[in-house]
Amino acid sequence: MSEEHTAGHSDLDSRSSVTFSTDEQRAAERNYPQNVAVPPQEGAGEVSRETSANAASYKVRTAADLADYAPAISDDETPLARATEHTLLARQQSQARPPMPRPRATRIMVVANQKGGVGKTTSTVNLAAALAQLGQRVLVVDLDPQGNASTALGVEHFQGTPGTYELLVDGAPLSDVVVACPEVPTLDVVPATIDLAGAEIELVSVVAREGRLKKALVGSGRVGDASAGEDRWDYVLIDCPPSLGLLTLNALVAGAEMLIPIQAEYYALEGLGQLLKTVDMVRAHLNPELAVSTILVTMYDARTRLAAGVADEVRNHFGDQVLRTYIPRSVRVSEAPSYGQTVMTYDPGSPGALSYLEAAREIARKGISA
Ligand SMILES: Nc1ncnc2c1ncn2[C@@H]1O[C@H](COP(=O)(O)OP(=O)(O)OP(=O)(O)O)[C@@H](O)[C@H]1O
Ligand SMILES: [Mg+2]
Repeated sequence: MSEEHTAGHSDLDSRSSVTFSTDEQRAAERNYPQNVAVPPQEGAGEVSRETSANAASYKVRTAADLADYAPAISDDETPLARATEHTLLARQQSQARPPMPRPRATRIMVVANQKGGVGKTTSTVNLAAALAQLGQRVLVVDLDPQGNASTALGVEHFQGTPGTYELLVDGAPLSDVVVACPEVPTLDVVPATIDLAGAEIELVSVVAREGRLKKALVGSGRVGDASAGEDRWDYVLIDCPPSLGLLTLNALVAGAEMLIPIQAEYYALEGLGQLLKTVDMVRAHLNPELAVSTILVTMYDARTRLAAGVADEVRNHFGDQVLRTYIPRSVRVSEAPSYGQTVMTYDPGSPGALSYLEAAREIARKGISA
């Protein structure tokens, strides 16, 4: 990271156990040309995502430019071949959908990444639906005032609907705010309304403000081992907002596992240092059990070498925590929420649905071997 290259990057190298290379180091490792003027593309006059410091040395460097200049990412196949292979793999592996064994105890997974739009909500709802299709009892807690997870799961969340706000701020029992997902049996939801936007501030003065969600989950009697009874949830997936405030903190205190979706694009690792530092802090002071168990590569475009390069880089940093299944970029995935559905019911045979099913299977398998 050059001295002048600051905005949005300053947190990257601050963690000792996981060090993130800078844009320049990453690019150099892949033999991207550095400080080379890339000829402007036709129609590429729009704003570049480069910082102004870099913009001084070359005009516009788009993702497509980088992909073209990535000879170090050796792959003999054509991008189309890789795309096809990925789709076929997802289809083959998911043909049989036998139920998975239930985990020994409820697995509470926090889906978080303070970077916006990386696929947190999409991954939460689709993994939840996929796990339910694999015979698991699942609860989704929508912890984002945007309520996108509630929309995608087809549950009401107009202002005033009892949900996460009442749970956290009023201390309402979980049973009062849980609703069933109409499309997927064995999938329950705690909806989020816009009221939750005020919770970050209202919670500040509340006693044990960061432990409210944990208290509600434990108090429900439906999390834990077999002693919690047949009604027990096998998985609780918590969809976090794109920030590291009190709402996300409540999730990190409540869960033992963290699932970080990472979008397969050039700036994917930015901000992860800050996220992991927060995890360390929570582990040290509030929840020693917390671990980053799962990294999911989302919106993977197999036609670009850039996506493969980013995914490799994520794997180099996180190793086996990265699921082998990458979620492809797919229109069906993005249009499903507008029908109040997950892609698992909207188009179960689509590559997106099959990939989420396979990812869910990987997650469930990890739980058995753990
Ligand atoms: N695999 C995919 N293929 C195509 N589009 C996708 C895919 N995954 C997510 N998207 C789209 O990308 C956008 C961001 O996804 P999503 O809302 O899941 O991200 P997020 O991390 O929850 O965002 P936020 O930080 O705002 O909560 C949405 O419009 C979604 O439909
Ligand atoms: Mg979201």
